[in-house]
Amino acid sequence: MAEERYSTDAGEEDIERVRLSMLAAACDPKTFALLERVGIGPGMHVLELGAGAGTVSAWMAEQVGPDGRVMSTDIDLQFHEDMPDNVIVRQHDVENETLPAAHFDIVHARAVLQHVPSRAEVIEKLLAALKPGGWLVLEDGQFMGFGEQSLPEPYATIHKIIASGSMNEWHDPNYGLHILGRLRELGCTDLDVIGEVWAMRPGEAGGEWWFLALERAFPRLVEVGMVTQEDADTALAQVREPGFAMISTTSIATIGRKPV
Ligand SMILES: C[S@@+](CC[C@H](N)C(=O)[O-])C[C@H]1O[C@@H](n2cnc3c(N)ncnc32)[C@H](O)[C@@H]1O
Repeated sequence: MAEERYSTDAGEEDIERVRLSMLAAACDPKTFALLERVGIGPGMHVLELGAGAGTVSAWMAEQVGPDGRVMSTDIDLQFHEDMPDNVIVRQHDVENETLPAAHFDIVHARAVLQHVPSRAEVIEKLLAALKPGGWLVLEDGQFMGFGEQSLPEPYATIHKIIASGSMNEWHDPNYGLHILGRLRELGCTDLDVIGEVWAMRPGEAGGEWWFLALERAFPRLVEVGMVTQEDADTALAQVREPGFAMISTTSIATIGRKPV
């Protein structure tokens, strides 16, 4: 796939599937609380953008019930699970394809906009897809500072390298900081933000999404000579040691309402 796309290399599907399921397990309870807060309920039409495995879409389907509809989209459906009948699954590129106008009661996207180059225009598109009074719930990250935390060497040095490499890959890993401003510019009402960090520990979903990425990245860093095999092995043992904990990136959820 082109470099401008969030993607996985062939042969890495299994690890990416596990990583997505870890991300979902760590984030779903907070996402469900946000969606409950904006009033998801029976009969609603909702959009889950960049659904990944679709765990949020499946939960939304239960909330909107048989009279409601969930549209679950992703540019790449390879990890998308089978869905109940009230979920419409679409392969859809939000940058280059249209969405129905003034159709949805809620539009939700988690960890998607940071990967989408034309994210500012995409937010406008998402707003146009909402009914007047509908809610935008956009969760994205803030990577800034993640590479600077206190960690044991040699992991500390390798962590800095990988944190800055991920920043390039993710296009705008701090986009969580900018969504509120964009919603304000677009005239949204009822604005709010909720930020959160957590302790990432080995063996727990909240940490494994990152530790699995390290396992994938280390051989490449050794291959290009940025890290020695010995340091890579020691660093991996450090983050895998029972009792190890480090601070996550910041998750920022932004909520806004389309003016009536
Ligand atoms: C980090 S994953 C997050 C998946 C899911 N939202 C979650 O939180 O578990 C980012 C997702 O955005 C999707 N994505 C990236 N660019 C996209 C685009 N232009 N249109 C639709 N989906 C896109 C990717 O395919 C991927 O599934």
